[in-house]
Amino acid sequence: MTLERRDFLKQAAASTTLGALGLTLPTSRVLGANDRVRLGIIGPGARGQELMRDFVKAPNAEFVALADVYNARFDQAKKLITNAGADASNVKTFTDHRKMLEMKDLDAVIVATPLHTHARHFIDTLAAGKDLYCEKTMTWSIEEAEACLAAAKKSSNRVVGIGLQHNSAGYFADSREWAKSNKLGTVTHAEMWMSRNSKRGVGQWVRPIPADCNANNVKWDAFLNGRSKRAFDANKFINWRLFWEFSGGNVTENMVHQIGWLIGVLDLGVPTAAYMSGGVFSEKDGREVPDTIAVTLDYPNDLVVTWQSSFSNSRYGLGARILGSHGTIEWLMGTTDMVSGRAGSGWNYAPEKLNNPDGVVVKGEAKGVNHYHNFVECVRSRKEPNSSVELGYRSAIAAHMANLSYRKKQRLTLDEARQAGRQLASR
Ligand SMILES: NC(=O)c1ccc[n+]([C@@H]2O[C@H](COP(=O)([O-])OP(=O)(O)OC[C@H]3O[C@@H](n4cnc5c(N)ncnc54)[C@H](O)[C@@H]3O)[C@@H](O)[C@H]2O)c1
Repeated sequence: MTLERRDFLKQAAASTTLGALGLTLPTSRVLGANDRVRLGIIGPGARGQELMRDFVKAPNAEFVALADVYNARFDQAKKLITNAGADASNVKTFTDHRKMLEMKDLDAVIVATPLHTHARHFIDTLAAGKDLYCEKTMTWSIEEAEACLAAAKKSSNRVVGIGLQHNSAGYFADSREWAKSNKLGTVTHAEMWMSRNSKRGVGQWVRPIPADCNANNVKWDAFLNGRSKRAFDANKFINWRLFWEFSGGNVTENMVHQIGWLIGVLDLGVPTAAYMSGGVFSEKDGREVPDTIAVTLDYPNDLVVTWQSSFSNSRYGLGARILGSHGTIEWLMGTTDMVSGRAGSGWNYAPEKLNNPDGVVVKGEAKGVNHYHNFVECVRSRKEPNSSVELGYRSAIAAHMANLSYRKKQRLTLDEARQAGRQLASR
């Protein structure tokens, strides 16, 4: 199993090197001012279809191809295109993404597959000379994050965007502006949280298995992507999020979004060390990934970042506070006020009067931009999208360090996490 994965990463590095030299890359067409951006998607499942609803509305863009290992997705995705008022009759469908990538007139590919397949789809897309929008978390492992970053650097003529959409929002633009204009002073701690609840007896994320989800309608080996061969398992296929082989749990589902926001606001690199505790406490439904999580990330220059998450209480929604000697940035989404009981969302800056007596409270008002349309515009302009591959890499490393610390039950530096990741993958 491990050999297959290693071989894939080695091959990937070689093919993108050739690509960078311009030797084997199929050249994508040059877009004229009136040409529509031709999009394909790998994995139009739950998130993929959400993305399609946004991308299909992007000015001057159209879907021309779909790749998925589960037949049912093709009709669902075509219906979505038709419902948006676009023409789905010429949209091509593929059960092998590599066949889709051979299309000469395909400009950009959206990857919305399960986490453990991102690196393959990421690297194959760039090797085929297409622009790429890859859902977060960029990869399933540290090793893959490094390989994908290297592949993107070698294919530097390609536009790469990552599905960290908070970094296109108004609460990102204002917060970065406040941080850049020295309103914070010395920042030693950022605290973040994300919480949900579900009816007791019903585990968060558990999806029903559709009647047609069987071995005849799913290319199971392609889903496994190098994991040990076994008989078709509909639960693992649909509920892959609950298992380490395919997922990183809530750290790669949600922490990555908030850490991505913070990295962008404060220009952070990768953590020096991570510690994560928690467990499967809310619903013992056979899942492996924890539902209760407390993460501590140490960053260089005396900064500690904490993130906590629960699936048994949603009162405080999602939030982040950057705590500085001269002021605080607060970003809240659906957080309930203790006194009024009202749920509030918004973002603001508040001065620390002790060190910043003239400072004033500022309410955030920036509008932000449509993250998905930003990517399509970048395919035209060849600019870097709001969520770059570097952001994808740094946020992925933080997430994997945290998860590996949890699985090893010890605090890990980046080097120790790399080693732990290799050990776990070779099991
Ligand atoms: N940015 C966000 O806010 C956000 C929100 C939700 C999910 N996501 C991310 O989107 C991704 C997909 O999540 P989801 O909930 O849509 O999963 P899903 O299981 O609903 O969809 C995944 C799709 O990929 C297909 N697939 C699986 N293996 C494949 C392969 N080898 N080749 C081609 N297709 C394959 C499946 O058949 C399915 O249609 C995950 O990485 C998840 O973290 C991002």
